[in-house]
Amino acid sequence: MISQLTERAARLVERQQWLNKPGYKLEHGLAFTFGLAGARARPLQTLLQGVWLGHPLHPVLTDLPLGAWTAALALDGVDVVAPRPQGFRQAAQVAVGLGVVGAAGAAVTGLADWQHTHDDARRLGMAHGALNTAALALYGLSWLDRHRGRHGRARLAGTVGYGLTMASSQLGGRLVFRHRVGVDHSDSRLDPRTFVPVLAESELNEDSPTLVECAGVPVVLVRHEGRISALGGDCPHLGAPMGESWLYKGELVCPWHGSRFDLQSGAAMTGPATAPLTCFQSRLRHGQIEIRRTPPAEVTTRGETLIAAETTR
Ligand code: FES
Repeated sequence: MISQLTERAARLVERQQWLNKPGYKLEHGLAFTFGLAGARARPLQTLLQGVWLGHPLHPVLTDLPLGAWTAALALDGVDVVAPRPQGFRQAAQVAVGLGVVGAAGAAVTGLADWQHTHDDARRLGMAHGALNTAALALYGLSWLDRHRGRHGRARLAGTVGYGLTMASSQLGGRLVFRHRVGVDHSDSRLDPRTFVPVLAESELNEDSPTLVECAGVPVVLVRHEGRISALGGDCPHLGAPMGESWLYKGELVCPWHGSRFDLQSGAAMTGPATAPLTCFQSRLRHGQIEIRRTPPAEVTTRGETLIAAETTR
């Protein structure tokens, strides 16, 4: 019953085509701003997207307002039912303030994640952001009212804000679990488990990513500075075909949103992708390039050598 209601509400939001226009304007505004800043904005983008963390930063920051505002609600509730000394009110005010700071961070990182969404996910993301912004405004008002001693109005604003936050959390969950925003889109199959020939060595040109298929799994072969790398054919960000990628400064560039990946470890060097590209071991046998899947545990982090994926000649 509840799931049907939430499904209907979410579908209603997703069908609101009128959100497309403001959505494109906002997305273009963000792209224009970052484009103007050029390479100087890249560290900030990398920070907001969570590339340094290995997964999006947004869900980490959302815990702060949710936890702090839940604590504030509980403190307010206890204070209303059985009025306590001043300490309860002060603690609630601190919790509300902490939540406001965390929510501001969550809003900025959420915007960075939303920027590359499309269609239903984009419209749902806008509603999610609008609800969160309204909740943030109410909690900001609540904090100010507490500061001025208007505790009744402050509690009311906080309670309404909490309700909006809960509704928005439901939409946020749908964005992740239904629309797969922020999750790893790379192929998770473990095939091929044994070395399989995929291409004659003579057909792989230097610095020219070449798509092959192995056991139904798309794989991109790259020869760079004499070394052969075999990487997943689906971008972990939103699944772009890496067969259309190119090399830039020794890194593989996603054709859709420009994430750059390390050729040895597959690690995302710049976002919006945060997860690594799938890695395959490669070797040469009788003039053929052979590959097999690198077990996930053997994939190392950025900047390290992928020991197991050493190309053998
Ligand atoms: S699909 Fe977005 S960076 Fe590759």
